[in-house]
Amino acid sequence: MRNLNEANLTDAVLARLEHAADARFKEIIESLVRHLHAFVRETQLTEAEWFAGIQFLTATGQKCDDKRQEYILLSDTLGVSMLVDAINHRKPGGATETTVLGPFYVPGSNQLPMWSDVARGLNGVPTYISGRVSDVTGKPIAGATLDVWQTDGEGVYDVQREGASYARGKFVTGADGRYGFRTVKPVSYPIPTDGPVGKMLLRMGRHPYRPAHVHAIVSAPGCETVTTHIFVKGDRYLGSDAVFGVKDSLVVDFGEHAPGPTPDGGKSASPFCTAEYDFRLVRS
Ligand code: BEZ
Ligand code: FE
Repeated sequence: MRNLNEANLTDAVLARLEHAADARFKEIIESLVRHLHAFVRETQLTEAEWFAGIQFLTATGQKCDDKRQEYILLSDTLGVSMLVDAINHRKPGGATETTVLGPFYVPGSNQLPMWSDVARGLNGVPTYISGRVSDVTGKPIAGATLDVWQTDGEGVYDVQREGASYARGKFVTGADGRYGFRTVKPVSYPIPTDGPVGKMLLRMGRHPYRPAHVHAIVSAPGCETVTTHIFVKGDRYLGSDAVFGVKDSLVVDFGEHAPGPTPDGGKSASPFCTAEYDFRLVRS
């Protein structure tokens, strides 16, 4: 293989994979090489542009550490995360739809009793979120775990503040499949923009905002685990989520109430919100 040129270079690279032992690895790399070469041909990429691309990927890697994953942010903002999600979670009708995990999930949250306030001490509108976990036929699932997390009332996750821990918790459903917890009403917030992905969004003429949401991973023995969100109806960014994660079935009315009795059997001295969402899991 010598004297390679525009016309035969792609085939020459593909031919070098003949001894790759892992068939799936080979399939993926072959496709990657074909698409990369097609991209260079289609755009007639200059050397300066290719080098700018390499500098961008280098900066993306350099921005990563144990708390910051700039490559996930890149995948999210280019719609790749949601495409991988869509291909891997083709759910039957009626099942709760999935959406992005995002970079702010922390495993190992404490399990809390029903109606615990995960946002104790945080500023924001007191909010009571409740509902039922069932299978797709509507049969309640007892012992399902909801692992929830969200930002504070300023749109910042605890892991984005040095040493902070808030707005996370695990809840387990009772015999009737019901769950309930107290929090503050989530707000829309910008994904981190102080790195190369933020610069990319700016050059693309895009905003970095996500519509207000609460994250949830819902799992139960014998069921497929669902990674999803509850979005706040009426949020201005529902139609332009920076990471393409919104699905209509996950948008919920956060009804406003005057001070008075609350769903946990207590009483609120200030106005509060309630939201109801039923999770429907697929039995595996
Ligand atoms: C989030 O919702 O936490 C999130 C998702 C994708 C990128 C950044 C943040
Ligand atoms: Fe989020």
